[in-house]
Amino acid sequence: MDITFEAQKTLQRLLAELDFSQLTPQKKSILIQRLTNGFQALFNQLFPLYGQRFDLYYHLKVLLQSVIDFHKKKCPAQIKDKSALWFESNQNVGIAVYVDLLADDLVSLIEKIPYFEALGINYVHLMPLYLSPEGNSDGGYAISDYRTVSPKLGTNKDLKDLASALHKKGIRMVLDFVFNHTSDEHRWAQAAKAGDQEYQDYYYFIDEQDAMEYNQTVREIFPQIRRGSFTYLPELDRHVWTTFNSFQWDLNYSNPAVFVAVVEEMLHLILNGCDVLRLDALAFVWKEKGTVCENLPKAHNLIKAFKACLDIAAPHVVFKSEAIVHPDDVNKYIATDECTLSYNPLMMALLWESLATRQTNLLYQSLERSFQIPEHTTWVNYLRCHDDIGWLWDDTISDRLGIDGIGHRHFLNQFYTGQFAGSFAAGVPFQENPVNGDCRVCGTLASLAGVENAIAADDPLLLDHAIKRIRVLNGINFAMPGIPLLYQGDDLGVLNNNDYLKDPTKVDDSRWVHRKKLTKADFTLAEDINTPQGKIAQLIREMIQIRKANDIFAAKSFELISLGSEHLFAFKRQSGDNVLLVIANISEHHVPITPTLDGLIGNKTAMNLLNNERIDLSSFSLIEPLDLLWLTKA
Ligand code: GLC
Ligand code: GLC
Repeated sequence: MDITFEAQKTLQRLLAELDFSQLTPQKKSILIQRLTNGFQALFNQLFPLYGQRFDLYYHLKVLLQSVIDFHKKKCPAQIKDKSALWFESNQNVGIAVYVDLLADDLVSLIEKIPYFEALGINYVHLMPLYLSPEGNSDGGYAISDYRTVSPKLGTNKDLKDLASALHKKGIRMVLDFVFNHTSDEHRWAQAAKAGDQEYQDYYYFIDEQDAMEYNQTVREIFPQIRRGSFTYLPELDRHVWTTFNSFQWDLNYSNPAVFVAVVEEMLHLILNGCDVLRLDALAFVWKEKGTVCENLPKAHNLIKAFKACLDIAAPHVVFKSEAIVHPDDVNKYIATDECTLSYNPLMMALLWESLATRQTNLLYQSLERSFQIPEHTTWVNYLRCHDDIGWLWDDTISDRLGIDGIGHRHFLNQFYTGQFAGSFAAGVPFQENPVNGDCRVCGTLASLAGVENAIAADDPLLLDHAIKRIRVLNGINFAMPGIPLLYQGDDLGVLNNNDYLKDPTKVDDSRWVHRKKLTKADFTLAEDINTPQGKIAQLIREMIQIRKANDIFAAKSFELISLGSEHLFAFKRQSGDNVLLVIANISEHHVPITPTLDGLIGNKTAMNLLNNERIDLSSFSLIEPLDLLWLTKA
C-alpha cells in the first residue's frame, strides 16, 4: 500500500465532507494549510493502530470536525514571546505548584504572581485542578471531567483569567493531560458501569482469566493499594484495568473512539490557555497481552498521533513527557514529533544516589549514555517533584561498575528512609512491594538533603553540610542543559510534614509528606537569612538570577568532564569563546583535582559566577567540601 497516496486521498475526501462554515475565511485557510501539512503525519501513526478497523474513516471525520470546531472557540490571551524554540532559552525556570497548597484557589493564585516574578519563574506547572472524586483523588490525577475545574479551586473562567494574568507577565502555564485513565466517576465510566457497551469499550472490562494472564507480565505500580493491576466490579462481575488506584480506570486506546474522544478533551484543556501539556503516565497507554504493557511501540504511535493533532490544532503548545521508566525508554518519548520536553528522572535519581554514596561514577556513566537528546527537544531537570523517587537506572551500567543493582537500591531506600546508620536523610518509604521488596522514597528536598536531621540534632556542622548539599544539587540542576523545575516549597526549604497521617484519605499515600500547604510562616522563615530556610531561599534565588543573566546557560555544546576523582562531578558548556565549567564536590571532604583547569577554560584565570571571585587556575587544585563552582573566563 502506498501510505502517502492513501493519506492524501483520505484527506481530500474528508475536506469535501467537513463543515468549515463557522470559521472566518482566514481561520479556514490557516487550518486547511495545517491539515495539508500535517495530515500525513497523523495518518501514518493512526494506520498501524487502527488500520484494521472498518470504521476508521468515520472516526477520522469526527476527529477533524472537532479540530475545526475548536477553532471557533476563543482562547485566553497568548504569551507575547512567540519564539517556537522558547524552551532552549536560559530565561526558563519552572515551578510545580498545587493551586490550593500555594494559594487557596485560582483567584488567590493570581496574587502569587509577584512571588513567581521575584523568584524568576516563567513556567508554572499547575497540578491537576479538574473535577475529581471527593476524598482520595490521587492528588487530582483521577479526573472526572476534563472540562470542569474543581469547584474547590474555582471556575473555568478563573483558570482562563489566571492564564491571561500569567501570560501578561511572560509566564507559561503547564497543565496536566492525564490521558492514561479517568476516574471511575467520569461520565464515560458511569455509563460503562450502567452497562452501556459503547462505554465499556472505552475501558478494559475483562474476565478473571484474562486479568490473571495480564497480571503475569504487568508490573505493579501501587502494590500497597492492591495486588495486580485490576479491580473487580462485583455489580458487573468484570475486572477493570487500574494501573494506579482502583478508582483510576485505564482507557482502552485500542478503540479509536477513545483516541478521538480524548483528543476532544485535550482541545478543551488547551482552551484554558496552557502552553505545555504534561503527558501523565504516558508509558502505560498501550497494552498487549504477554507484554509488560509499558513503553510498547504502539504507545509511541499513539503519542505521535496526539502530537500530530496538536500540531494541526494548536502548534504553539508542546508536550512534556512524564515517563518514569528505564532510561532508554524515557528517551524514546523525546522527539520533535513526539514530546518536545521530558522530565529527566535519571539525573534526578542519580544525583540523590551520588549524595548518598559520595561517588559519581554511576551518574557519569549513565548520563554519558542517556543525556544526549535530539536537537530542539529539551530536558526538564528537577530534584524533587510531587511524586516519589524511584531508583531507575540501567543495570548494565551498574553491573559494569561492580554495583549490584538490587542491593544498591535496597541500600538507597534504607539510606533515605532513616534505616541506615549515619545517613543525613529524613525520608519515608513509598509503596513497598511485599513480594520483591521494591520501594521508593518520599520527602522534601530539605529533609532528604539533611536539614531536618541537622536541626533535630542541633548540629551546626551537619546543618552546614545539608545546606551545601542543597546548593550542590541546585547548582547542577540550574546549570545543566534544560529547563530547571523547582517543586513548591523546596525554594523555601520546607521540611517534611506529617499532617497527612491524620487524614484518612491521605494516610496510605506517603507522597503527601512532601505536599504541604504553604503558610505565611513558611514564607516568613524563608525571608530571614539567619534561618536555614532563609539561606536555602537565598541561594536558590541567586542561582536563578545568575543563570538568567548569562547566555552561557543556553549553550548547546555540552560535555561531561572527568577531574580525576570519584567525588567530583563536572561538566562544560561552550558557545563560541564563552565557556562554563561546573564543578561539584559531593563529599564532605576536600578533594584534589588532577588536571589543571586552564586548558578546560581556555584561560589562566577564571571567575566563579557564584561569588564573583577570580581564581588563578595554575595554582587551583583543591575543591572544598560540598562546594560548587560555576567557572567562566575572567
Ligand atoms: C503520574 C503522576 C502521579 C500519579 C500517576 C497516576 O505519575 O505524577 O502523581 O499518581 O501519574 O496518574
Ligand atoms: C508514576 C507514579 C510514580 C511511579 C511511576 C512508576 O509515574 O507517579 O509514583 O513511580 O509511575 O512508573
